[in-house]
Amino acid sequence: MYQEIDLEKIDLSSEPPIEEPARQYYFMAKCRTWIQDFEEEYGHKPKACVVNMGCQMNARDSEKLTGILEMIGYEQTDREEADFVIYNTCTVRENANNKVWGRLGYLNNYKKRHPHMKIALCGCMMQEAEVIEKLKKSYSFVDLVFGTHNIYKFAELLATVLEQQGMVIDIWKSTDMIVEDLPVERKYFFKSGINIMFGCNNFCSYCIVPYVRGRERSRKSEDILKEIRRLAKEGVVEVMLLGQNVNSYGKNLEEPMTFAELLQEVEKIEGIERIRFMTSHPKDLSDELIEVMGRSKKICRHLHLPLQSGSSRILKEMNRHYDKEQYLQLVEKIRRSVPGIALTTDIIVGFPGETEEDFAETMDVVEQVGYESAFTFLYSKRTGTPAAGKEDQVPEEKAKERFQRLLKKVQEIAAKKAEAYTGKIEPVLVEEVNEQDESLVTGRLSSNFVVHLPGTKEMIGKIISVKLNECKGFYFYGEAVNETGSAFAKKQ
Ligand code: 5AD
Ligand code: SF4
Repeated sequence: MYQEIDLEKIDLSSEPPIEEPARQYYFMAKCRTWIQDFEEEYGHKPKACVVNMGCQMNARDSEKLTGILEMIGYEQTDREEADFVIYNTCTVRENANNKVWGRLGYLNNYKKRHPHMKIALCGCMMQEAEVIEKLKKSYSFVDLVFGTHNIYKFAELLATVLEQQGMVIDIWKSTDMIVEDLPVERKYFFKSGINIMFGCNNFCSYCIVPYVRGRERSRKSEDILKEIRRLAKEGVVEVMLLGQNVNSYGKNLEEPMTFAELLQEVEKIEGIERIRFMTSHPKDLSDELIEVMGRSKKICRHLHLPLQSGSSRILKEMNRHYDKEQYLQLVEKIRRSVPGIALTTDIIVGFPGETEEDFAETMDVVEQVGYESAFTFLYSKRTGTPAAGKEDQVPEEKAKERFQRLLKKVQEIAAKKAEAYTGKIEPVLVEEVNEQDESLVTGRLSSNFVVHLPGTKEMIGKIISVKLNECKGFYFYGEAVNETGSAFAKKQ
């Protein structure tokens, strides 16, 4: 367990151990000596900035990077004008890549004035061969580049960077390795993401994820449960189980286990009060899972169920393995078994060959389902995916125009859905002091809606009853009440 490891006791005169994670602790100890030299020279600890650019999986990886940097002795900062900057990149859409190229230009200028600065890049974008070529050719000021499969080796790679000049690149095509028990620095003390599986086997025809994250690998349930038990002891009340396709959890384990079975084990853990998970592929969502959700006291009344398109023809082209009717039937079944569940989704507009009729089908599903919220994306062509090779790409103007129509519809429906909660008393997990107004705190309902209410930082991490007084479209203003419904604190 990393909390018990004392880096000072590691003998750096001996060879690094072969086995993991002991090997990484050896390199953390090595990096630590470099940090101590830095402190002596500059009179302060070096500052590190970890920039998270992607999804929840990416955010969890960033917590692992931060955990390692903290253990080594770096001070954390949100400013990119730091001694060490690492971009944990995303590549799911082209604009994510463009953002990285743009920001690297800025970092280069800063580094010219601060030559001791180190710049590292990791995450999904680094798994693309063209990206690595471009970095080698035109971005020689970058010190370290690694991908998604060897993130556990970060300390070892950093030790190399701190010792030598020139760009260190270590990209793996795939791995079966899952290294447990490395340090993690959580962003919130009361909630945490937990990886339950890595990779994706689905190969939706537009998506680059299976190419950059590799094949599906599930963590052993005992490792997951051990981690959650420890988190619960540390004060975590809400967990988010993470995977590209959580519904196929456990299929490739030595002792197979379904996702629904895993959820029931998590439910038993004392101290955990809320369970969320992300992401569910509709094709793998089992009756067993719906049943477990229906009777659970802890699983949140929220399901993110990506639709992608409402047109059965486009869904086939997307390789999604369900059609419009099957999706709608699934929604009906869930609504029947889990009353009051909030549904959210992902939708792509402008997939190659999408006609006005196809788009109308998407709008129709959005209306029929009535999502509490939806992430809408313009289709982005990703080199190497089957959809990128299609001839009939939708003109940008057309796609943008559809996107606007969809967004309007999604917002109208979401506002109506939210309105229906007004006046209700709901349990809310308070997450932070409101950034704009310090007299307010911000929290989430089980359904994932956001609510602002008068309060103080002492309420953070607690689940309290809140009366939802006023709906503001996709969030609420409320007030804390006791069980009988009377207000504790009056709204200013
Ligand atoms: N273009 C646009 N959106 C995409 N997504 C995945 N790949 C693409 C792409 N090439 C969206 C999907 C997925 C979400 C995480 O990102 O909707 O569910
Ligand atoms: Fe991409 Fe489809 Fe896998 Fe999701 S399920 S990560 S959209 S390939």
